[in-house]
Amino acid sequence: MIIAIDGPAGAGKSTISKLIANRLGIMYIDTGAMYRAVTYYFLQNDVKFDDKDEIKSSLDKIDIDFDRDKVYLCNQDVTSQIRSKIVNENVSDVSAIDVVREKMVDMQRLMSKKKSVLLDGRDIGTVVFPSADYKFYLTASVDVRAKRRYLEEQNKGNINISIEEIKKSIENRDFIDSNRKISPLKKADDALEIDTSDMSIDEVVNKVINIVGEKD
Ligand code: C5P
Repeated sequence: MIIAIDGPAGAGKSTISKLIANRLGIMYIDTGAMYRAVTYYFLQNDVKFDDKDEIKSSLDKIDIDFDRDKVYLCNQDVTSQIRSKIVNENVSDVSAIDVVREKMVDMQRLMSKKKSVLLDGRDIGTVVFPSADYKFYLTASVDVRAKRRYLEEQNKGNINISIEEIKKSIENRDFIDSNRKISPLKKADDALEIDTSDMSIDEVVNKVINIVGEKD
C-alpha cells in the first residue's frame, strides 16, 4: 500500500504523516528531509547550483538514510542541521534542479519497494507514485501555517525569529515550489484535499485513518 500526502510548507504534513504511519504500522518517508539533506550537502561542499557536472558527481556520493526520527547523510546525523535557516533559504532552489529530482525520485521508489509506505512531499501523488492507493493534499491558510512554524521555533528555543519572517519564508518557498518547471507543487486530480486550518492534529489523523482503514 502506498499513501501519498502532499501540500505546501507548514500544512502539518510531517507531524500528521508520522502519526498515521505509526498507527498503521507502516514506513514513513519524509521526502522534504531528503531535499533538505542534499541542500545541506551542497552548501557544506560549496557545490554551485548551476554547475551540472559538480552536481552530478556530488549526487553520486550522496547517501540518505532514515532511522526512527533521525536523518543521516552519508552516515552523519544531520537531523537538526537540515532545519536551519540557511537550508530553508536554499532548499527550493536545489529542489528545482532536474538531476536532483531524478535522483530523489529514484531513491524514493527504491525505498518503497515491496513495502507499505506513507510518503509526504510536494510531488508524491503527481509524479513519484501517480497510482498510489490513497492520495491526500493538506493545506491551511498561510497565516495558520506561519503561526504553527513560529510556535515550533519557539519550542526549539529560537526566540529571535519573528512570525512575519517565517510567513515571508513560507510564501517564498511556496512560490518557487509551485512555479518550477519540473514537478511543481500541485494537488493531484484524484487527491482528497483537507484544509487543516481549523482542525486539530488528532482530527486530521482520524480523518485520514477513517478513509484508509485501521491496521488489522
Ligand atoms: O516538506 P519540507 O518543507 O521539509 O520540504 C522542503 C522543501 O523540499 C520544499 O520547500 C520543496 O522545495 C522541496 N520538496 C520537493 N519535493 C518533495 C518534498 C520537498 O521539492 N517531494
